[in-house]
Amino acid sequence: MDFNFKSAINHINEGVVTWSSPSNIALIKYWGKKESQIPENPSISFTLNDCKTTTTLKYSKKEDVNHFSFEIYLDGEQKDDFKPKIETFFKRIEHYVPFLKEYHFTIETSNTFPHSSGIASSASGMSALALCVMSIEKALSETSSSEDEMSQSYFNKKASFLARLGSGSACRSIEGDLIVWGEHKEIKGSSDAYGIVYPYEVHDHFKNYQDTILLVDKGEKQVSSTVGHNLMHNHPFAKRRFEQAHEHMSKLIAILKTGDLDAFIEIVESEALTLHAMMMTSLPYFILMKPNTLEIINAIWAYRNRTKSKICFTLDAGANVHVLYPENEKDAVMEFINNELVVYCQNRHYISDQIGFGANQIQ
Ligand code: PMV
Repeated sequence: MDFNFKSAINHINEGVVTWSSPSNIALIKYWGKKESQIPENPSISFTLNDCKTTTTLKYSKKEDVNHFSFEIYLDGEQKDDFKPKIETFFKRIEHYVPFLKEYHFTIETSNTFPHSSGIASSASGMSALALCVMSIEKALSETSSSEDEMSQSYFNKKASFLARLGSGSACRSIEGDLIVWGEHKEIKGSSDAYGIVYPYEVHDHFKNYQDTILLVDKGEKQVSSTVGHNLMHNHPFAKRRFEQAHEHMSKLIAILKTGDLDAFIEIVESEALTLHAMMMTSLPYFILMKPNTLEIINAIWAYRNRTKSKICFTLDAGANVHVLYPENEKDAVMEFINNELVVYCQNRHYISDQIGFGANQIQ
C-alpha cells in the first residue's frame, strides 16, 4: 500500500487536535526486528481499555521549513528529555507526512497510568501522536467533495503505519480488540507494515477478557526495547524462535474460534517465558523478572490447579505481571489477587484493565 502524502488542498495556518490511544498487551510477542521497524515475526495483542495516553497537538505555521520545531509537555510539565525520541520519530515519518516542517507543534500529553509504573507508554504515546498527525493530514487533504474524503480504513492503516515507525508495538494500538501485526500465511491482509483487526471468528470466551496488571517493579526499564530487539541479531535461538511465533499463531487461530482456554493459556504463558528466555540467552544477557514475578507466577499456577480457573499470566520486557482471565471469573480472581498477590506488588499497587476497542478522537 502506498502511504505517500498526495497533496495539500487546504491552507491551514493553525489548529488543534486531541486523540486518546490505549496501550496493548501482546499474546504472541514481537521481539526482534529488521530495518525500519519491520518485525521478524507476526504478533497479536489485546488492545487495552483504561491504560491510555491522551495527546493534544497544537500546530501553527512557521517561516523556516528546514527544521522540526516542537515542544513537549507531560502532565503540564515541559519534558525536554522526550525530545530526541520525538525528533527521531518525525525524521522517520517525514517522507510520508512532508508538512511536518511547515509547522511549530506544541505536544501536550498525559497518561492514565503513573509514569513511574514500569508500564511502557511508548505504544499508547506513539499511537496517539501518529493519530494526531493523521488528523492534520486529513484536514490538509480533504475538501467537502466526497471524492477527496479519506476512508476510515486508509486513515487507520496509515496511522498504524506511522505509529510503527515510532515504536513497533504502537501499531497495534489504533483499533481493537484483537490486533495482528506481521505477515502470517494464514491471516489474510496481515502485514509487516501495519496492524490489522484480527479478521476471523473469535469465541465469546474472549469477549471482555480481563487484564489486571500487577506492578512488581515500577523502576525504569533495565533494557530499552531498541537494545533488546537488536540482541536478536546473531542470537543463537533466533531462527527457531521466529518459526515458533508463526506456529503459535497458526494454533491460536483455531483456539480463538473454539474458545479452548487451556490451549490459549499454554500459548500465552509459553510466549511470555520465551520472550524472557530470549533475553536470558542473548549476549549481553538479562534477567528482567524479579523474585516477586516468580512468586506471582507460582501462586497463579497453584490457584489454577486448586480451582480449575482459566487465569493465566503474560509479561512485557520487565518485571510486572499481566494477569489475564475471562470476565465471568472477575469476582473470584479479584479476591485471589487481593488476598494472595498484592503482597508481591510495590506498595500493593495494581491496575485493573480489560480488552478495549482502540483510540478515540477527543477534538
Ligand atoms: O514496541 P517496542 O519496540 O517497545 O517493543 C515491545 C516488545 C514487547 O512489548 C516486549 C512485546 C510486544 O509484542 O509488545
